[in-house]
Amino acid sequence: MLDDNFIARARAVLRLNDTGEFTKPSPRQYPHQWNWDSAFIALGLAQFDLPRAFAEVRALLRAQWRDGMVPHIIYPTGASDYFPPPEFWQTENLARAGDIPSSALTQPPILSTIVRMIQNNSQFAIHNSELRTLRANYEFSQLLAWHRWLHTARDADGTGLPCLIHPWESGMDNSPLWADALDRITPENLPPFQRRDTIHVAADERPRAPDYERFVYLIDCGRRLHWEPRALLEQMPFLVQDVLFCSILHRADEDLCALARELGEDTREIDGWLARTREIFDARFWDDARGLYLDYDVRAQSPIRVNANATFAPLFAGLASPDQAARLVAEHFENPREYAPGADSKFYLPSVAKNEPGYAPRRYWCGPVWIQMNWIIAEGLRRYGFIKQADAVVHDSLALVAQNDFREYYDPRDGSGCGAVDFSWSAALTLEMIASENLAANDANERA
Ligand code: DGY
Repeated sequence: MLDDNFIARARAVLRLNDTGEFTKPSPRQYPHQWNWDSAFIALGLAQFDLPRAFAEVRALLRAQWRDGMVPHIIYPTGASDYFPPPEFWQTENLARAGDIPSSALTQPPILSTIVRMIQNNSQFAIHNSELRTLRANYEFSQLLAWHRWLHTARDADGTGLPCLIHPWESGMDNSPLWADALDRITPENLPPFQRRDTIHVAADERPRAPDYERFVYLIDCGRRLHWEPRALLEQMPFLVQDVLFCSILHRADEDLCALARELGEDTREIDGWLARTREIFDARFWDDARGLYLDYDVRAQSPIRVNANATFAPLFAGLASPDQAARLVAEHFENPREYAPGADSKFYLPSVAKNEPGYAPRRYWCGPVWIQMNWIIAEGLRRYGFIKQADAVVHDSLALVAQNDFREYYDPRDGSGCGAVDFSWSAALTLEMIASENLAANDANERA
């Protein structure tokens, strides 16, 4: 299905979006650097240009704030036609901010996991001395500082589970997960702004106006609090703990711990985070009656009773017990009313269960299939031995990109592409998935 031309096309997308310093998520819709995009992009780049992959990681870490946060949007090349522009965040005079203009939010911290994967995937090459030098270039202490910031500056209740202060921090901006929390907010005295995201993408594939107004309102709330962490935790009207974010952080803590051991660094602090998350995770997120994980609204002090595909993320982190994993798969993954292909969808995995009232198959995070979610979920399924299910997710992901090119997201009903075109992480993770498939096939041949 995927020939060498297709691999060349995936690489060409990454080259197209390469500014020389960082890789844009897509040429026009997202013309700056995004945090978890760059991490996934580095994983794809590592398949054919290892030095460039490490440079992508360094470019991201260069924007780290003095207090440890790694921001979600970084503007190394200044403003563009993207809204919000760098000055909208009002971070330029903050002592805790970094040297490069950036947003004042963060994003799912997948970077340590990606750094470790790149190293493991390229063990053979790392014996080469030039690459050994590059290997030393990822900054362990910077990754550690970011994780520490997440577990402390964003800890509202002593659990160490980070709180998100804006839907953009989840990466799943307009997911129905946030509908109730956003409904409770009345945007008052909105600063003047003009949306730009519907210039390049159809409006019905983007967040609705009321959501967008609340996104802007929340930025304004953060600005008025000077982005001071304690004040944000106390006063931001949006405050949630998210299953996807916390799972990615736990997995990243595991990977950071492995990196620390390799470097001979003390692991006690990381061991503490790992133990604390394990201790609290089920009590906070697991809904035993429904057999799935639910997000938690810290402001409302109640679970968010929406079934989104983030519910599978604890598999990626090894946080589910075998029984919980079996229930997630049998009752949800394989359920054609929720995530499995059936009469009303053809591809794994809609971002929101199809029987949720907020499901909308073409609207951004309300239902479309995202390649990076598929990759996270496939990795998680594999970790628990659900090989057939993981293979089905990879198969569908590769079918989507093969049929409809590297789009930002896909309509699960017919696979048609939505959102931005020439989307970097769809290309990068395609390269990663093909490489993993080839590796698995070679291993099987060797065993035969
Ligand atoms: C956007 O502009 O839609 C981005 O997702 C914000 O991170």
